[in-house]
Formats: sequence, C-alpha cells, structure tokens
Amino acid sequence: MTSKLVICASGDGSNFEAIVRASRSGLLQAEVSGLIVNRGGIGVLERAERLKVPVAIISPKGFASREEWDAAMVARLRTWSADWVVLAGYLALVGPQVLTAYQHRIVNSHPALLPKFGGAGMYGDRVHAAVLAAGERETGITVHLIDEVYDRGAILAQERVAVLPGDTPELLAARVKTQETAFYPKVLNDLITGRITTG
Ligand code: GRF
Repeated sequence: MTSKLVICASGDGSNFEAIVRASRSGLLQAEVSGLIVNRGGIGVLERAERLKVPVAIISPKGFASREEWDAAMVARLRTWSADWVVLAGYLALVGPQVLTAYQHRIVNSHPALLPKFGGAGMYGDRVHAAVLAAGERETGITVHLIDEVYDRGAILAQERVAVLPGDTPELLAARVKTQETAFYPKVLNDLITGRITTG
C-alpha cells in the first residue's frame, strides 16, 4: 500500500512542491494527501492550489487553547490517513498530542548541519547569517525526526553544501535550498521504503 504523507508548512513552499512533484514522478514512493498550514497569505498556498493538493488552515489562533488546536491537528492527520508527517518550513512547535500519535513518524528538514545552527529562532536567513558569521567552510542540510524541542530529534541524514568566498546569507540560502529540494524527497523515500529506520 502506498504511504501517505501530510506536509505542514508556513512559508514559500519550495520543499512542499519538490516533495509533491517527486511523489508524482515516482521518485518518492508516497502520496501527498494534504497540506496543513498555520496561517494564511503564504506562498505555499498558491503552490497547493496549482498542484491540486487539499489544504487545511489550522492556526492556534482559531482555538480556545493549545490543546484544542493540537487535537484538531491530530484529527486532520487521521482524516487524511497520514502515515508520515512531513514538516517543510513549518514554524509552529508541534503539540504533544501530535507527537504522541505520530511518534517516530514526524520528519523535518533543517538548512544547516545540526546540531550546529539549530534551536528556537534559527530559521530562514538567520541560520545562514550565523553560519557565515562563524566562518564555517561548509554548511548543509539535516533531515531529522522531531520531538518537543526544536531541532533536537534523531538525525536521519545529512548532506554537505560548500560555503563560497563572497557568500551572503541570501546566496547561501539559495544554494542550500536548491540542494535541499532534491535531498529531502530522496531521504523521505529512503525512510518510507525502509532504507533508513527510525526505531
Ligand atoms: C527550508 O530551508 C527548510 O529547511 C526550513 O525552512 C525552509 C522552508 O523553505 N525548515 P520552503 O518554504 O520549502 O521554500
């Protein structure tokens, strides 16, 4: 049976689109059953419309408590029969009910070589600015499981990206993103087909 993925995103959605395309070309042996976003007005929504992927906007602001929001997330993941929850630039902390319901089944991609340059507030160009400020010669991509602390879950796979002379956070971000949109779907496929195990 084909594995079903639900993607969660909060931004532009280039990884979302790469994963959907990989699933449709057969590079990724899975089906994307839906997209969950935590806010409106973001680029990923246009991509979902163009690619005809069902969308749910589940914002914590729409619920009386974090618990109700968390429960709504679990309900939607069940409705879409998620086998895997794939975070792709999702900026909300996943709640304890989702973590329990999908233990070892929630994956994230981080645009640096964790454990370096991760943690709360480390997203977007801030990550790449920190890499450059530290004088690193290489950075990369880390695909990892998630738990209740940002960027701390078990590392599943990493790929290196060179830092080049003259790099700015924007240039480095673009180079990492190009590589990430190929790497993330490939690692997801390894995970889904059992080449990488999560315990
Ligand atoms: C990616 O670089 C990912 O590593 C990070 O957020 C970014 C999302 O970019 N978690 P996009 O929305 O997929 O374009």
